[in-house]
Amino acid sequence: MRKCPRIPASWRLTWERRTKVSTAATETKTALSISGLHAWYGESHILHGVDLKVHQGEVVTLLGRNGAGRTTTLKSILGLVGSRKGSIKVNGIEAIGLPTHQIAHIGIGYCPEERGIFSSLTAEENLLLPPEVQAGGMTIGEIYAMFPNLEERRHSQGSRLSGGEQQMLAMARILRTGAHLLLLDEITEGLAPVIVQTLGRVIGQLKDRGFTIVLVEQNFRFAAPIADRHYVMEHGRIAETFSAAELEAKMDMLHEYLGV
Ligand SMILES: Nc1ncnc2c1ncn2[C@@H]1O[C@H](COP(=O)(O)OP(=O)(O)OP(=O)(O)O)[C@@H](O)[C@H]1O
Ligand SMILES: [Mg+2]
Repeated sequence: MRKCPRIPASWRLTWERRTKVSTAATETKTALSISGLHAWYGESHILHGVDLKVHQGEVVTLLGRNGAGRTTTLKSILGLVGSRKGSIKVNGIEAIGLPTHQIAHIGIGYCPEERGIFSSLTAEENLLLPPEVQAGGMTIGEIYAMFPNLEERRHSQGSRLSGGEQQMLAMARILRTGAHLLLLDEITEGLAPVIVQTLGRVIGQLKDRGFTIVLVEQNFRFAAPIADRHYVMEHGRIAETFSAAELEAKMDMLHEYLGV
């Protein structure tokens, strides 16, 4: 195994585990391949030729300052922007010309920043809603094993759940669909450290189960130990890309781009 770089001790254990897994991941297929992606909201040209590749089983972050275009990149994959141009291949299938409902069926689970929990339904009803679009969607039992808090709150209305519980529910819901490529937008935003820790543990478990994950994050301390590779966006383009092993050497550059 490669030598672990000088990074905080709390990050190191996870780093070693991730590096081992990521070596295997690079030998497998590409789950998501984006090239020359441009996107617009009406007249506003937001993405200016994004190139990004994620291998099956990898956890990759999309970092950047506010307004860099990270959410727009995720929305473009789903066809949720005004218009888009370029190529977006999901498991080898070209998605750029497909409508959103068909894109959902090629195995993408999207967890939007605003979570989208149905407030008048209970936590469990929210979990029962998503259709299984691909084989392998998690059962309610599997979901509760992964998120014990949700089992405790299963009969509570969506509107009565805390921010952390809503976030866990939003993540759990996409696992019901069978999607194995997960696009997660700022899942730790505004949450207590204990919930952030739970989410980190869940992402580790999902990675071990073979999920491919794109994490849009501001919280670099959360993202760094769990990701195999990082992309940094600026002004609607990918400005930098580097692996977990290169993290230490890139810290100065990250300070400059993100102020971390
Ligand atoms: N619906 C919209 N209509 C017009 N412009 C938008 C829309 N949504 C976002 N933008 C603009 O697109 C740019 C990129 O926004 P985006 O939401 O992708 O950024 P981001 O990297 O996710 O950052 P953050 O989440 O911190 O705002 C910003 O300049 C933003 O103002
Ligand atoms: Mg955003």
